[in-house]
Amino acid sequence: MQARIEELRRQVAIELEKAEDTKALGEVHQRYLGKKGEISALMQGLGKLSKEERPAAGQLINEFRDTVEADLGIKEQALKEKELLRRYEREAVDVTLPGVRRPKGNLHPISLVRRQWEHVFQGLGFTVVESPEIDLEYYCFTALNIPQNHPSRDKQDTFYINDEVVLRQHTSPGQIRTMEKNPPPLKVVVPGRVFRSDDNTSRHTPMFHQMEGLVVDKNLNLCDLRGLLDTLAKAMFAPDVEIRFRPSHFPFTEPSVEVDVSCFVCGRKGCSLCKGAGWIEILGAGVVHPKVLSVCGIDPDEYSGLAFGVGLERVAMLKYGISSIQILYDNDIRMLRQFASAL
Ligand code: PHE
Repeated sequence: MQARIEELRRQVAIELEKAEDTKALGEVHQRYLGKKGEISALMQGLGKLSKEERPAAGQLINEFRDTVEADLGIKEQALKEKELLRRYEREAVDVTLPGVRRPKGNLHPISLVRRQWEHVFQGLGFTVVESPEIDLEYYCFTALNIPQNHPSRDKQDTFYINDEVVLRQHTSPGQIRTMEKNPPPLKVVVPGRVFRSDDNTSRHTPMFHQMEGLVVDKNLNLCDLRGLLDTLAKAMFAPDVEIRFRPSHFPFTEPSVEVDVSCFVCGRKGCSLCKGAGWIEILGAGVVHPKVLSVCGIDPDEYSGLAFGVGLERVAMLKYGISSIQILYDNDIRMLRQFASAL
């Protein structure tokens, strides 16, 4: 028995030495400590011994089993550590390698202008609100005091979905929707897309952007409008620009004005941008017509309103020296990239 155990002991030592991974080690475990393994066989062999020999032989076997178990345990620990190290090596990431660079996008000039104006208005206590792009003819025309026979109602100018629903041709319906829902005093701007049945030329596109401004409060007059628009023109173009009013006509404002800004390129001396005039037209504005206030349930004897509407494409073209509105919609990435550092 003792001789057999010694032989097995040497054999186990050799096999443990050879085992290179935990799988091989499992096989060694099976071969010696398994149910049909060598040590079980030794145990069964006890039956053939005499009663006197049995206890000592049994003890030898038990000791042997304990050492095999202990040796297997030590080897298993060592192999596991080795395997872990190998995995670490395999999965190692070199954090000092340069990463994959993603190209950085930038805002479209229209978005730049819109955000800049929103920022200025918010600083003056205005709220930015939205109004539907597809709206009722009532909001786009009737409530704005635009007569039934007005040319802008013509199907050649406005896109009609049906007799009552149109693609808004300006952002002014935003005034009505705001006044209908909110009691004065009010200060809002309504930026958004507008649609007109125009051909694509260097100055026109069938879709463009406007920003509507509306202030409703007590005792407002044209001087307040002037002060407000002066602040905006300076913020958008240059701190030393001036504005001037020219009389105009819109059905929803009375009086109505066309607003020019002094040429920020030549300082009013006359250049190619202002076409020698020294002034550039930038927006339409006026004092909200009393009828428009009444339609929205606001008493025109108590309150007055100021409104203006500015085209964002026009401002972007002036500000960034863009010669044709089409350039804004060609989506030429080389043009867009030039605005990466704007604002
Ligand atoms: N809605 C006018 C336009 O599109 C602009 C405007 C807005 C004029 C508000 C006066 C007051 O031309």
